Amino acid sequence: MKVKAAVLHGLGERWNVEEVELDPPGPGEVLVKTAFAGLCHSDEHLVTGDLFAPPELEAILPGNSLFPIIGGHEGSGVVTEVGDGVTNVSVGDHVSCSFVPACGSCPSCAKGRQNLCDLGARTMGGGMITDGTYRTHVADGRPLNKMAQLGTFSEYMTLSQHSVVRVEPDLPLEATCLVSCGVATGFGSATERADVRPGDTVVVVGCGGVGMNAVQGAAAAGASHVIAVDPVDFKRETAMNMGATATAAAMDEALGMVNDITWGRMADSVILTPGVLTGDLVQPAMDLTAKGGTVVATALAPMGQEDVKLNLTRLTLSQKELRGTMFGSASPNARIPELLRMYQTGKLKLDELITRRYSLDEINQGFDDMNAGLNIRGVIQFD
Ligand SMILES: NC(=O)c1ccc[n+]([C@@H]2O[C@H](COP(=O)([O-])OP(=O)(O)OC[C@H]3O[C@@H](n4cnc5c(N)ncnc54)[C@H](O)[C@@H]3O)[C@@H](O)[C@H]2O)c1
Ligand SMILES: [Zn+2]
Ligand SMILES: [Zn+2]
Repeated sequence: MKVKAAVLHGLGERWNVEEVELDPPGPGEVLVKTAFAGLCHSDEHLVTGDLFAPPELEAILPGNSLFPIIGGHEGSGVVTEVGDGVTNVSVGDHVSCSFVPACGSCPSCAKGRQNLCDLGARTMGGGMITDGTYRTHVADGRPLNKMAQLGTFSEYMTLSQHSVVRVEPDLPLEATCLVSCGVATGFGSATERADVRPGDTVVVVGCGGVGMNAVQGAAAAGASHVIAVDPVDFKRETAMNMGATATAAAMDEALGMVNDITWGRMADSVILTPGVLTGDLVQPAMDLTAKGGTVVATALAPMGQEDVKLNLTRLTLSQKELRGTMFGSASPNARIPELLRMYQTGKLKLDELITRRYSLDEINQGFDDMNAGLNIRGVIQFD
């Protein structure tokens, strides 16, 4: 079938909304009519090249061969067709997309760590995770990749059953979209990876669609102080309505503030969620962290970045930790329904995260607005 999708044809280009060819679902696959797609900074990394390996690493990491690619990895929709052998969803089910596929049976999944599912190794290009062939093609027939094996910037998606999580049909599909990436990642960065405990002091650096939910997660876990750091006034003001107790425009401005409120001990955890992570942000985050504390690296860095500013003596002698996180270190099949239950019972703010809605044709405006600091989250609304 022919569907409209936003395709990126090369580094630094604009998203091109065009007609693409979509094949029906094969064994283990489902066809989903997309309802909403979130504009997450990870899609912008495709445009800027942060998500592509420099030439010397292209043999082991995805490079320019990913183009053309349909963007979008945060989304929700309704199942309209299922292939042979699909067991987790039926036609008519509402689903949240999972940017890490979760097979349920690899060693990571078996240990309850679906966010590290072995199928995740194939999320960036290379055909379907089911059999390696392509269901999406550009008009001239060339194969078309999909961001994180999803490509939610498309009216319909043919997906592996492992990339969708069934949700209750009475839940709004807009909220179901948000928990698919930004909310789950930010919330879990605080509750799982930073392991925030009642009474903790937590600093969240970067309060966009991901960081704002680290603020919510830290507050939900019982933190006494949640300091939201962002250079944009509107983000800091919004953070105060999402659970932050104080704000700062930059990490060095937060230093004295954190020192005062913790009586000199500093923060139990610092969560790094700026649009782009760079090595020079690590030591300032460590300086905000108490001895025995944790810095969580949630934001993505340019793929080739290997230089990090880090005082190793203070890391060792203050027994600090630096930890990465994928999807907020929770299992999509458990976490997505949990977050929606919190939303339904008034314990998690989701509607408040959406600043603007766009049509698919307005996608470039949406990313321009994100880059201009105008949105907590922008979403594409399909018909
Ligand atoms: N680890 C994962 O599983 C995962 C999942 C989703 C997104 N991400 C990554 O998380 C990051 C955040 O994504 P997003 O969608 O929230 O982006 P966003 O653009 O919506 O928000 C980023 C925020 O950081 C602020 N910021 C930029 N530089 C800053 C600095 N030096 N100090 C403080 N604040 C700063 C911006 O003003 C903005 O409010 C991206 O790198 C994204 O790729 C990671
Ligand atoms: Zn994302
Ligand atoms: Zn698995």
